Amino acid sequence: MQIDVLTLFPNMFEGVIGDSILKRAQEKKKVDINLYNLRDWTHDKRRTVDDKPYGGGPGMVIKPEPVFEACDDLCKKNTHVILLTPQGEKLDQKLATKLLKYRHLLFICGHYEGYDERIRTLAHREVSIGDYVLTCGELPAMVVIDSIVRLVPGVLGEEGSLDSESFNDDLLEYPQYTRPSVYRDMKVPEILVSGNHNKIEKWRKQQSLKRTKKRRSDLLKKYNKEGKRSE
Ligand code: ADE
Repeated sequence: MQIDVLTLFPNMFEGVIGDSILKRAQEKKKVDINLYNLRDWTHDKRRTVDDKPYGGGPGMVIKPEPVFEACDDLCKKNTHVILLTPQGEKLDQKLATKLLKYRHLLFICGHYEGYDERIRTLAHREVSIGDYVLTCGELPAMVVIDSIVRLVPGVLGEEGSLDSESFNDDLLEYPQYTRPSVYRDMKVPEILVSGNHNKIEKWRKQQSLKRTKKRRSDLLKKYNKEGKRSE
């Protein structure tokens, strides 16, 4: 999978893509992440990427020319272009899984007050990471990229760890414990040290349901509606 990012601040990505699992995913050639500076597609001395909005108003707007020209150069026949914006479709596990199917993603990160509306015609999809406004599209791009790359087969050590985690199935993950079995008077539930794998599986499913009901009743409703309840 190839992931290209068009950004005004490539340095913001260095720590995130240059460390931990994203770093390993690139080393293992599971994913190829490339950063492109939008200013490289400007033609003036000051490398201008923004301008005042027509009709007045505060702030600056990203100009169409550098973004269109960058897309001319970076887009291939199979490229899926994603614009980061709080007005986009909200990221969830289902969307991350859907994006995993594309061979080439191009993320466009905005800044300032917004994009020239014509830039929207370049995007196959607009994505938001939640109902709040950040200063830039770089952080959301990193969030979306991380949510996709960890799903690429072979990136996480154990494939099984993807099956049980939160939101697969629309349920939150069950509680996890590690050693020591007693810590500051808090004991690991007996069942987890019993070695009875059937019982452990059942307990985990019950805990997932209980936790989802308490914390995210919206998810539980969805789970029940989709007829996933096995009990
Ligand atoms: N740019 C600014 N805020 C954003 C958000 N919540 N999601 C995606 N892009 C953004």
